[in-house]
Amino acid sequence: MFTYHCLNPISAKGLDLFDSNYNKTDDIQEADAILVRSAKMHELELPENLKAVARAGAGVNNIPLDKCADAGVVVFNTPGANANAVKELVISGMLLASRDIIGGNTWCKENKDDPEIGKTMEKAKKNFAGTELAGKTLGIIGLGAIGVQVANAAVHLGMEVYGCDPFISVNAAWNLSRSVHHSSSYDEIFEKCDFITVHVPLLDSTRNLINQEAIDKMKDGVVILNYARDLLVDEEAVIAGIKAGKIRKYVSDFPNPTTAGQENVILTPHLGASTEEAEDNCAVMAVEEIRDFLENGNIKHSVNYPDCDNGICTAAGRIGILHHNSKGVIAQFATILGDSDINIADMTNKSRGDYAYALVDLDTPISPCAIEKLNAIEEVIRVHVVK
Ligand SMILES: NC(=O)c1ccc[n+]([C@@H]2O[C@H](COP(=O)([O-])OP(=O)(O)OC[C@H]3O[C@@H](n4cnc5c(N)ncnc54)[C@H](O)[C@@H]3O)[C@@H](O)[C@H]2O)c1
Repeated sequence: MFTYHCLNPISAKGLDLFDSNYNKTDDIQEADAILVRSAKMHELELPENLKAVARAGAGVNNIPLDKCADAGVVVFNTPGANANAVKELVISGMLLASRDIIGGNTWCKENKDDPEIGKTMEKAKKNFAGTELAGKTLGIIGLGAIGVQVANAAVHLGMEVYGCDPFISVNAAWNLSRSVHHSSSYDEIFEKCDFITVHVPLLDSTRNLINQEAIDKMKDGVVILNYARDLLVDEEAVIAGIKAGKIRKYVSDFPNPTTAGQENVILTPHLGASTEEAEDNCAVMAVEEIRDFLENGNIKHSVNYPDCDNGICTAAGRIGILHHNSKGVIAQFATILGDSDINIADMTNKSRGDYAYALVDLDTPISPCAIEKLNAIEEVIRVHVVK
């Protein structure tokens, strides 16, 4: 029997996946697992029983990752669960940049009292005409969960798509349409594309990725889209590019004093993941991660421990050992289990920085005495007995 606590409202689509082995508790101190969205956990005293925290979303700066790791608490997030929501907003951003839908809608509102609006619109509409997406070139920098979906959708819209991601994952490469051109440098994208969209994380290496030098290489009339993070783009340079007539539109999900209210800038207030479906997807993924960890010891999409997946537990016993990543520690596990007459059927050990995780299948269930001895090893943070 496990107990979970929600620090924020979590979609019922996810919580319904907890079966009768799970109880929801209002008392956080009883919780084996916590589900959280944006609640700040830095000042929180971690419950003694707590084994897992799942953030229904991507960003984890509200969670003290090292404090959790030191307490043997695995923290998960839900990467990619909101990718479809962001993809749809990117497509809408390209459409809004191509035709003046916003201007046309404003005109209709302003002329609502004109009984002749059905006629006057025929004269007015030329002010809002635009271009189509089909046949245009789209450059995508970053082909992860979101970039791949944007690329595939754009191919279906008849666009010529160029993608650049030096670190593309095998999974993303499998999912990418064969019609997407592989660009080995940003320059090809800057030089060839009518639309350029960034879908990379904000790192020191990606900060100001779209800068003056990049803009100088771009085609006249380029549209730049930023649904990733504002600091990826030198927005002062972009505004100057718009004023100089070089950039047709800048579309961003991150309004700030530099961009808000500027001509030919289309802004949304960080709406990328704001859909009911994205919230449901995040909750479903968070609950699945917690269940797989508590019931099978598997770690998928952790942000403070290494991922480690041995599938469903079919052995007579299974333990997960959360430990500090140091030399000789695995040998100590084997010795203690061997001395306790317990045979190791299968074992995986993965590390991530200072922390590591050993998932061990056993031919017989582990004894309390062996658990005590494992816990007594200095480098061991916690022994999670799965079965
Ligand atoms: N607007 C929103 O509400 C919203 C919602 C979700 C995510 N995001 C942001 O979107 C971005 C992408 O998210 P994701 O879920 O697709 O992430 P992801 O981790 O799945 O993909 C990121 C991709 O960027 C690639 N990459 C890293 N450095 C690169 C570089 N220097 N050049 C080219 N590619 C590089 C990685 O290899 C990876 O494939 C992130 O910045 C994220 O914060 C925004």
